Amino acid sequence: MPPLVWLVTGCSSGFGEAFVHSIIARGDKVIATGRNAADRLGHLQATGAAILPLDVTAPKQDIEATVQKAILIHGTIDVLVNNAGYCELGFLEDIPPDKWMAQLNTNFFGCVNITQALLPHFRSKKSGTIVFMSSIWTWTSGPGIGPYGVSKHALASPSSSHSLIAVSLLWPAYDIADATQGYAGTLQAEVSQFNIHPILFDIGHFRSSITSPTSVSFTPPSASTADDYNSLFTSLTAAAAQLHGNQPGDPRKCTELILDVVRGEGLAKGLERPARIPVGKDAVQVVKDACQSMLETVGDWERVVSGTDF
Ligand SMILES: NC(=O)c1ccc[n+]([C@@H]2O[C@H](COP(=O)([O-])OP(=O)(O)OC[C@H]3O[C@@H](n4cnc5c(N)ncnc54)[C@H](OP(=O)(O)O)[C@@H]3O)[C@@H](O)[C@H]2O)c1
Repeated sequence: MPPLVWLVTGCSSGFGEAFVHSIIARGDKVIATGRNAADRLGHLQATGAAILPLDVTAPKQDIEATVQKAILIHGTIDVLVNNAGYCELGFLEDIPPDKWMAQLNTNFFGCVNITQALLPHFRSKKSGTIVFMSSIWTWTSGPGIGPYGVSKHALASPSSSHSLIAVSLLWPAYDIADATQGYAGTLQAEVSQFNIHPILFDIGHFRSSITSPTSVSFTPPSASTADDYNSLFTSLTAAAAQLHGNQPGDPRKCTELILDVVRGEGLAKGLERPARIPVGKDAVQVVKDACQSMLETVGDWERVVSGTDF
């Protein structure tokens, strides 16, 4: 395969930084982007990566201008990695609207905005791959995970049945066996005809800055909820602190695997490229458990809930 040109968001640390090293090591080219690029991305200069400032929440025209600049660097872009993100936590009764909006603006609309800015380029050359860094929190849930989980659910949720039914009724020619859901699923349904392929990774727990106390935003219980939520808040913040630095996943192994999948080589050689796939032993287990649980529910209830047609 000839060298690919990658555009990666959020490269100052974690997966973004690991992507830069994996891409260069594979002989591909990378445009590493991030906020406060002068301060936060300087350490990547020596890798040979091109560096551009890009806040994924910037106004549409600024994002479009940066994407145009990025295309000019190597004359093309082949792969977009929608990676930038952070973790907004808290109890639903307390989280203020501005924190919800900030989380969705970065983790969801950030992906929407960058993807929208790159699609004309991919469509004009009839090829492109769009990687989404999603999470096992789309397959499971827990107290406190609300805004982060919702931001990843918007990219793709696991409940496929009604979208599949809608697709099969409205567009029988569409290959529903390949369907993923949410934003990434709709994107796949719309742009695979142009040889543009979104791939969503449901990633388990990997060691990065995302769980560091300086990165996580956890809204504490308010005066009116504290009596009922404080003990849960204390145990969740302790669990988050304990998790940080002890996650089982190695970000570099994850980015190497994603390169294998995108390039169809290494561990992914000979396998059909998926539209959606979990990464990490923990993620595989969560996905299996969620599917098993839904199959059991449907099995128990099928007779009761299937008699509603005219
Ligand atoms: N680590 C995991 O276990 C895990 C699991 C599932 C999914 N993910 C996803 O993987 C992605 C990367 O996270 P990570 O684990 O590598 O965490 P990380 O080390 O904290 O990296 C997050 C990156 O996103 C950047 N970022 C945040 N807001 C941004 C914005 N508005 N514009 C541009 N860049 C922005 C950060 O830049 P600054 O330095 O400027 O803050 C940083 O470079 C995220 O989408 C996350 O949800 C991670």
